[in-house]
Amino acid sequence: MRVLVTGGAGFIGSQVVEALVARGHEAVVYDALLPSAHTAPAPAAPDGARLIVADVRDRDALAAALDGVDAVSHQAAMVGLGQDFTDAPDYVACNDLGTSVLLAAMASAGVRRLVLAGSMVVYGEGRYECPRHGVVRPGPRSVTDLDAGRFEPVCPSCGAELHPGLVGEDAPTDPRNVYAATKLAQEHLSAAWARDTGGAAVSLRYHNVYGPGMPRDTPYAGVASFFRSALARGEAPQVFEDGRQRRDFVHVRDVAAANVLALEALDDRAQGTFAAYNAGSGEPRTVGEMAAVLAAACGGPVPVITGAYRLGDVRHITADSSRLRGELGWKPGVRFADGMREFAAAGQRGA
Ligand SMILES: NC(=O)c1ccc[n+]([C@@H]2O[C@H](COP(=O)([O-])OP(=O)(O)OC[C@H]3O[C@@H](n4cnc5c(N)ncnc54)[C@H](O)[C@@H]3O)[C@@H](O)[C@H]2O)c1
Ligand SMILES: [Zn+2]
Repeated sequence: MRVLVTGGAGFIGSQVVEALVARGHEAVVYDALLPSAHTAPAPAAPDGARLIVADVRDRDALAAALDGVDAVSHQAAMVGLGQDFTDAPDYVACNDLGTSVLLAAMASAGVRRLVLAGSMVVYGEGRYECPRHGVVRPGPRSVTDLDAGRFEPVCPSCGAELHPGLVGEDAPTDPRNVYAATKLAQEHLSAAWARDTGGAAVSLRYHNVYGPGMPRDTPYAGVASFFRSALARGEAPQVFEDGRQRRDFVHVRDVAAANVLALEALDDRAQGTFAAYNAGSGEPRTVGEMAAVLAAACGGPVPVITGAYRLGDVRHITADSSRLRGELGWKPGVRFADGMREFAAAGQRGA
């Protein structure tokens, strides 16, 4: 299969390319090499892959790149929380206008298979149970609560403490920041494209992906990047809130493997359909625990719990990835402790 990998020079995309080539597929890397993502020169495309430096909003470049392509792996996006709201137009342009231009080019070229890099951010807060009210959906946390160090969301009906659980794909979506809103719109556009063209689209909702090649700390990076960069400078990781917020850290090679499985299974899907799958390790960790394990693996100073917070962050978000395991036979293979040790030893991109 010839697969066009948008964002194929990025952290996750480059691993998708490697995994495709290792499975005997042909990969074409399509990447604009955004300065926000590539603070140092981007690595060349892996052996066996062609690199096209172009933007997904460029219709002509896409039309040429899609020639002879069987499927698209759409990884290109602006990621992270950004600097402030003034970034919003760039996120929307890159992620949503970009996705619509890509889908239109696929429609014209007759390419009917798509795997989208989705994200768990579409859910907002994860799944919570109140002892009295069952599953509830807490709203965004207030500045007053956060300033007072009350980080745990409470039951919207009775104010009781809640128990966080694993979020499934059928949970309602509730994007809480600009990036999250653009990731959800990408899914809606992909579903509309599938219905309209008879194509098949799958979104893999990645949880917190980590591993070698992760970009270094910029406003667009993830939490593991911040900690790894601090440790590289000999500084203690600064952990927001009380460090007990829960996440699912999934290794980049496992995410790449999920992409290959999803691409290979697209032919078996009903035409005109869109489906979403959580891609998480299934083993929730706290951010404080991740910081401590990474600091120990780096031989660095112990993390500092700061009590600071970012308004766009949710408290707990951890995945139920049994659908991906059951339907596509995916099984994450990298254990947390091993993955963190490897991440400690490996460099970051642009560091
Ligand atoms: N890293 C995570 O934890 C995580 C979690 C959930 C979802 N995702 C999604 O995974 C995908 C890949 O993220 P990543 O972490 O590898 O980020 P990354 O920044 O390392 O890679 C993204 C790549 O896309 C390219 N790109 C961005 N906009 C483009 C455009 N308009 N045209 C062409 N190329 C463009 C960038 O140059 C970069 O190489 C994104 O869609 C992101 O939303 C990532
Ligand atoms: Zn309640």
